[in-house]
Amino acid sequence: MTTFRIAVMPGDGIGTEVIPEGLKVLQRAIDASGEPVELVTTTFEASAKRWHETGETLTDAELADLRTHDAIYFGACGDPSVPSGVLERGIILKMRFGLEHAVNMRPSKFFAGATSPLADPGEIDFIVVREGTEGSYTGQGGSLRTDTPHEVATEVSVNTWYGIERTVRFAFEKAQARRQKLTYVHKHNVMVHAGHLWRRVVEHVAPEFPDVAVNYEHTDACTIYMVTDPGRYDVIVTDNLFGDILTDLAAAVTGGIGLAASANLNVDGTAPSLFEPIHGSAPDIAGQGIADPTATILSAALMAESLGLDVVAKTIQTAVEADLAERGDAERSTAEVGDAIAARIG
Ligand code: IPM
Ligand code: MG
Repeated sequence: MTTFRIAVMPGDGIGTEVIPEGLKVLQRAIDASGEPVELVTTTFEASAKRWHETGETLTDAELADLRTHDAIYFGACGDPSVPSGVLERGIILKMRFGLEHAVNMRPSKFFAGATSPLADPGEIDFIVVREGTEGSYTGQGGSLRTDTPHEVATEVSVNTWYGIERTVRFAFEKAQARRQKLTYVHKHNVMVHAGHLWRRVVEHVAPEFPDVAVNYEHTDACTIYMVTDPGRYDVIVTDNLFGDILTDLAAAVTGGIGLAASANLNVDGTAPSLFEPIHGSAPDIAGQGIADPTATILSAALMAESLGLDVVAKTIQTAVEADLAERGDAERSTAEVGDAIAARIG
């Protein structure tokens, strides 16, 4: 029997509603696979409620404890009652940075049965490989003369050859295994320092993958093509902030943020990877039991795959695709969607 220790962190808002559905489907798929695998879960409370009660987000001791797990399954963070940035920096970014989640991998597939706002979406099946530990997200910067008319603020974008290379290499490997097409996206016509570093790293790694066709797009142009011709993409690699923006757009064109899964991967195996839906805590619909758990369920498939449970991952994906193909406009609760997907597994 192989035991996997999963750290479960539902977080805020709809995170607490969708995570149980993902765990339900994951367990069902493990049972159906007949593999001698056991999941042992530890629940971590990192939420607005805790911050209000204790002033804590995620402590260093908890971060150390997370390292003893095989994977982290995360719901969502953010709440309007907490100043913007406190939970985001104190919880999800603390884990991405502290656990070296170099690659934020976000697949975008237009599934049969999903509804795209595009008139003619065509076939869409690409992944965005977003750098996860650098760029404008590092928190480098500050403000001077705060709260005066002369306030100055800096938010420094940090870009290292090391950080870019491990992300770019992962993207090339993915492209090699898929349709051999890599698009790197930046803005090197303006951000000449970071942009040309990215370009040089891509050009340095490319010769190792002679089968992969590489092209470059400026970020603004990429937003046009993602709407007018999303079928052109196979693998996109880009920096942290551009990747954040592009993956919301990618989710929108492929049927909505309720379907978009993601994996924050520690590519060196030095700490557990983290799996989460791309969406946030959705305070506007939280507590009503109507959030779509599909993205969270697909994130469980990504988690299974990263744990080497390929059959389990495939089983979950197939069940989700079958559910999507037939769901139509039926209004279903969060639990009803989870139950329907679980029932397809057997
Ligand atoms: C995402 C989210 C996060 C990000 C927030 C919650 C910090 O938007 O996962 O895309 O900006 O990375
Ligand atoms: Mg985002």
